[in-house]
Parts: sequence; structure tokens; C-alpha cells
Amino acid sequence: MKIIMLGAPGAGKGTQAKKIAEKYSVPHVSTGDIFRANIKNGTELGKEAKKYMDQGQLVPDELTVKILLDRVAQDDCKNGYVLDGFPRTIPQAEVLEKALSKLGEQIDYAINIDVPDETIVNRMSGRRACISCGATYHIVSIPPKKEGICDTCGNELVLRDDDKPETVRKRLSVYHEQTQPLIDFYEKRNILKSVDGMIGSKEVFEIIVSFLGE
Ligand code: AP5
Ligand code: MG
Repeated sequence: MKIIMLGAPGAGKGTQAKKIAEKYSVPHVSTGDIFRANIKNGTELGKEAKKYMDQGQLVPDELTVKILLDRVAQDDCKNGYVLDGFPRTIPQAEVLEKALSKLGEQIDYAINIDVPDETIVNRMSGRRACISCGATYHIVSIPPKKEGICDTCGNELVLRDDDKPETVRKRLSVYHEQTQPLIDFYEKRNILKSVDGMIGSKEVFEIIVSFLGE
């Protein structure tokens, strides 16, 4: 099972990708989480990625594509994966498609979570993220059991550097310009499934399961 999560920043891609990964026993592969782990560990890749991420810009395709292809070539991805935050540009989608077709494989579903821009800025200011395992919470709608602590791994939750309202607005405009065209790209390949992301995260997941099967 190979799945792509599409949607604006804050639409709930990470929230749903985690649940899908757990239910269907496939890894959750988030390019954003990979970059953040590199930033935390002070790697060269992290330093380079941070320049773009803090501005709400995309990390260049050359860098991102290599990281992603290396990741999905690992052993734990042989039965599939959920991609969260990749592809984010048409060239990224084309590279992925080519790499898979060389292996005789393809993406099974692209799931688009639809949330209007006005809701996004609000959601982001209440988001708390775990840098260790990538879990995300919301201080009002999806709080952790213990304030400031990740339910899954027990590490500290933080407000992401790129969740400031002005950076979120920039990320939204980059999304509309560079990422939204992917909805059409996957629609044409007949693998697009869209879900309204304004309902509760549990309900969103139920709809996704209805697409993917029990
Ligand atoms: P990335 O980490 O992918 O960020 P993003 O796409 O901006 O998305 P977010 O993680 O902010 O949101 P999400 O959709 O995962 O929402 P979440 O589930 O957390 O990328 C960060 C940066 O890295 C990019 O800006 C770019 O610079 C770089 N990058 C990454 N990949 C790249 C690529 N392929 N190419 C180039 N650059 C790349 O939910 C949001 C909040 O809402 C949470 O608080 C959550 O608890 C809450 N919530 C979720 N669902 C619901 C619901 N149904 N109702 C109410 N609240 C909800
Ligand atoms: Mg995310």
C-alpha cells in the first residue's frame, strides 16, 4: 500500500498519516520530520533545509528528492508507506512516478485533506509537535494526555519555528502556487480521494479507512 497525503500546511496530513501507518502497518514517511530531525541534530542537511523552512519556502527539489528516494528504498518500506509532505511540486511527483515505474510499482492513493485557509492560521498557533517521533497535537482540539508531553514517546512537545502566523501565511501561498497543482496531477491518474478536513480528526480517519478498506 503506497499512499500520498496532500493538503495545505495544517490540513492534518501528519495527524492522519500517523493513524494510517499504525492501522495498516506501514511506515509514516514525512520529509518535514526528516528535515526537523536533521535540524535538531545539527547536520549539514539540517542547516541547509532550515534556511528555507524558516522562511516558509520549499527546500529545493534536488535535495528533497534524494532524501525521499533513499528513505523509501529502505527495507521497512518494501510493503508500502504513507508519504506526508512529499511530493510537493510537479517535478517531485514526476521523479517519484519514474522511480516507481522502474520497479514496476505505482502510488495506490493520493488522499487530499481539504481545509480552508482561514482555519489554518488558527490551527497552527495551537499546534504542539513532538520532534522525537513526529506526533502532533492541538492544545484545544487534540490535546496530549499530559500537557507538553508526547503521549506516544514521552518527549517534550514544542511550537514549531515555522508556525508563526506570518510564516504560516507564506507557507499557504507557496502551497497554492506549487503544491495544489498536484491535486489535478493525481486526479488525472484516477487515484485521488478527497476528504473534508474540517470535521473531527476521528471522522476524517473513518472516511480515509472507507477509501482504503478495512
Ligand atoms: P511539513 O512538516 O510537511 O509541514 P506542512 O506541509 O506545512 O504541514 P504541517 O506539518 O504544518 O501540517 P499537517 O498537514 O501535517 O497538519 P497536522 O496533522 O500537524 O513541512 C515543513 C517544511 O519543510 C515546508 O514548509 C518545507 O520548507 C519543507 N519541506 C517538507 N517537505 C518538502 C518537500 N517535499 N519539498 C520541499 N520542501 C519540503 O495538523 C495541524 C494541526 O491541526 C495540529 O495541531 C493538529 O492537532 C490539528 N488537527 C489535525 N486534524 C484536525 C481536525 N480534523 N480538526 C481539528 N484540528 C485538527
Ligand atoms: Mg505535518
